[in-house]
Amino acid sequence: MQNSVRLKSFELVARDIAEVDISFLHALSLGVGWPHRPNDWEMLLQSGQGLVAVDGIGRVFGTAMWFPHGVDFATIGMVITSPRTQAQGNGRWLMDQVLGRCAGRNLSLNATNAAYSLYVSLGFLNEATVYQCQGDVALTLPATPPLSGELVAMPSEELGAIASLDCQAFGTDRTSLLALITEKSTIYGLRRNGQLVGYSCCREFGRGKVIGPVVAASDQDAINLTAVHFQHLKGEFARVDTREKDGAFADFLAQCRLGVFDTVTTMSKGEKFLNRKAGEPWVYGLAAHGWG
Ligand SMILES: CC(C)(COP(=O)(O)OP(=O)(O)OC[C@H]1O[C@@H](n2cnc3c(N)ncnc32)[C@H](O)[C@@H]1OP(=O)(O)O)[C@@H](O)C(=O)NCCC(=O)NCCS
Repeated sequence: MQNSVRLKSFELVARDIAEVDISFLHALSLGVGWPHRPNDWEMLLQSGQGLVAVDGIGRVFGTAMWFPHGVDFATIGMVITSPRTQAQGNGRWLMDQVLGRCAGRNLSLNATNAAYSLYVSLGFLNEATVYQCQGDVALTLPATPPLSGELVAMPSEELGAIASLDCQAFGTDRTSLLALITEKSTIYGLRRNGQLVGYSCCREFGRGKVIGPVVAASDQDAINLTAVHFQHLKGEFARVDTREKDGAFADFLAQCRLGVFDTVTTMSKGEKFLNRKAGEPWVYGLAAHGWG
């Protein structure tokens, strides 16, 4: 008798991600080493749309999501295929489905090394590197630069002011996403001359806490808006995803013991996504890779 058997490969079909139990999605992301907890998936599902690749008996072998912001922009994320089915066309097929559903929108995503060549082949162009900085926050924090303005705890009810500042930095209104994030976050705002000039959120994510979004118009403001969260997180695991390669903000994260764990590449298709202007609000800390 033969001691091995070659099985025919199976067919996958696309289903709405909302139809699937979160435990399957969680198992898939764990399988590729991602830190999302079921609650993180829950927030992703509430903030966007997506597809799963399932076999004939409903087992999940892949996911891809898109997060519409406004009428003509979306970010793409949570593109995962199970290691067993990788390099067989599943990822490209899922992306083709997503691109079809996002037709007419400008797109952006944060590409892992594994997915980079796939996105290049689909017409995405490089914009920036994102540094995933994480670690146990130092017990003794570095001195912060002088605070220009007033740092205040903000209730999530002040969503309107937060969303309008965020829109200047992000480039597109993302009020509905921010409503979800702020509801689950500790929020600080920086006011100068009575105006909100920066804000930062801290929420549970993955192995610990993520600080993001952090929106500010200068390194100095961004440091103060991040440090205020670190004060409560000494010795605890925290993560900040930033496009600051060097400069005072990047140095500050390193001094707080958040090292660069990994990088991803911000890419776009259609209109350019990132438009930094000197002295104007800028996203120093990302909300999450999938949300841009
Ligand atoms: C990235 C990922 C989704 C790709 O899925 P996949 O099912 O392997 O994708 P495909 O089989 O459709 O391959 C797509 C392209 O990726 C490249 N690729 C895939 N596997 C590869 C491998 N082992 N070696 C080299 N290139 C490879 C090829 O360029 C391929 O292009 P082709 O269609 O011209 O052959 C999958 O590797 C994955 O889930 N990785 C872990 C999670 C992750 O990083 N997700 C991306 C988030 S941005």
